[in-house]
Formats: sequence, C-alpha cells, structure tokens
Amino acid sequence: VRRAPLFATLDEDSAREIMASMEAVRMERGDVLFHEGDQGDRLYVITEGKIKLGCTSTDGRENLLAILGPGEMFGELSLFDPGPRTATATAVAETQLIGLGNDQLRTLLQSHPRIAATLLASLARRLRRTNENLADLVFTDVPGRVAKALLDLSSRFGRPVEEGVMVAHDLTQEELAQLVGASRETVNKALADFATRGWLRLEARAVLLLDVERLRRR
Ligand code: CMP
Repeated sequence: VRRAPLFATLDEDSAREIMASMEAVRMERGDVLFHEGDQGDRLYVITEGKIKLGCTSTDGRENLLAILGPGEMFGELSLFDPGPRTATATAVAETQLIGLGNDQLRTLLQSHPRIAATLLASLARRLRRTNENLADLVFTDVPGRVAKALLDLSSRFGRPVEEGVMVAHDLTQEELAQLVGASRETVNKALADFATRGWLRLEARAVLLLDVERLRRR
C-alpha cells in the first residue's frame, strides 16, 4: 500500500490501520469492477495488474480513457462529486485492488491532510493528460498518436531488455485502437509501418520498442 503515491506520506502504523479497513478485490482479465453509470461508493488503488477505463458512445463504440497499473488510483470522481461512474473499469490482466469507501476516505482525509494534497496532485495530472490527449485528437495524426501511446505505456509498464524496451501492455489490437481513438485498421497500419522501419517488434499483447528515439520524434 505504501508504494501507492496516495499513501506514500503515511507512517507505518497509519498505513497498517488503513490497510485493515480496506477491502481487497481480485480480478481476472475481462472481469468488470463497475460499469459507467453505476452508483459509486469507493475509490480503488491497484496493487497488481492493470485496469482499463472505458466509455461507450451512444452508437456502441468503445473509447479507452486510460490504462492504469500498480500504485495508481481511480474511482474517486463519484466520491468527490457524487454522481454516476464516468467510465467502466475492466481488468486487462490478473489484477488485485484495494477499495476505500467514502466514509473511510473522509476520516482518512481529516486525520492525514497530506493525502488530500496527493489526491489533488493526481487529479491535476490527470486533467493535464486529458487535455493533452484532446489536443492530440485534433492536431496529431494517427501514427503520431500510436507512437505517443506506446511511449506512455512504456514509461509505466516497460522493462529494459537487451534489444530495447519490452512493453507488456496486455492489450489486444482492438483495445490499443480504442486507446488511440482510431479504427483498428489505421492503428494496425501504423504499427506495421513502425515494425517495417525497425522501430519496434509486435508480440502477443506486448511490443518490443527497438528505437525509442525515432518513435519519440515521430
Ligand atoms: P469514477 O467516475 O468514480 O469512475 C470511473 C473512473 O475513471 C473515474 O472515477 C476516474 O477515476 C477515472 N477516469 C475518468 N476519466 C478519466 C480520464 N480521462 N483519465 C483517467 N482516468 C479517468
């Protein structure tokens, strides 16, 4: 728990106390934790695995807002601004989470005000990232967005290997396309083009980045 930025400022005793009052959840790939529109009563911190946050358009298309990994938190919006869940949370790998209910959170914020600052910082970071994604949707072409999504996944899930950086993102090509906000065909074409240039190698639910510098420039 203390590796999660949200709780990093807690001392040992407080961390233990909070841990004891939190609910542990285990999920398999494909399990849904909550749906967009559900009533929300707790936030979650990922301790292992990955969660995709997605929303569906009225004509049934799916858009992924984010892929979150260990240490990251979600589900706080319906706590701070009571209302329905703004996205559906689905596990994309074997995942473990801890849930913190509304009342517990309120007590926690009172006794540990520094946690509030951490929460605000993470909301600010998320807003900044969302704005950037919005600008990219308008100004950046699909290959550029694919390169950016891969670099972003790499910064969180990448592991250096001899040839480059192995990014085990656990996403299908369909999910990658939903994350980039483009059709599967266009995203596949961009990936194939990068692979032909020798910038990356595609693997099952993973990608090996061979030339991070070129991808960054792209
Ligand atoms: P909540 O609305 O309770 O449930 C869905 C959660 O997804 C939401 O809280 C946020 O924690 C998270 N979320 C919503 N929009 C975004 C976004 N644009 N980027 C990252 N996370 C988001």
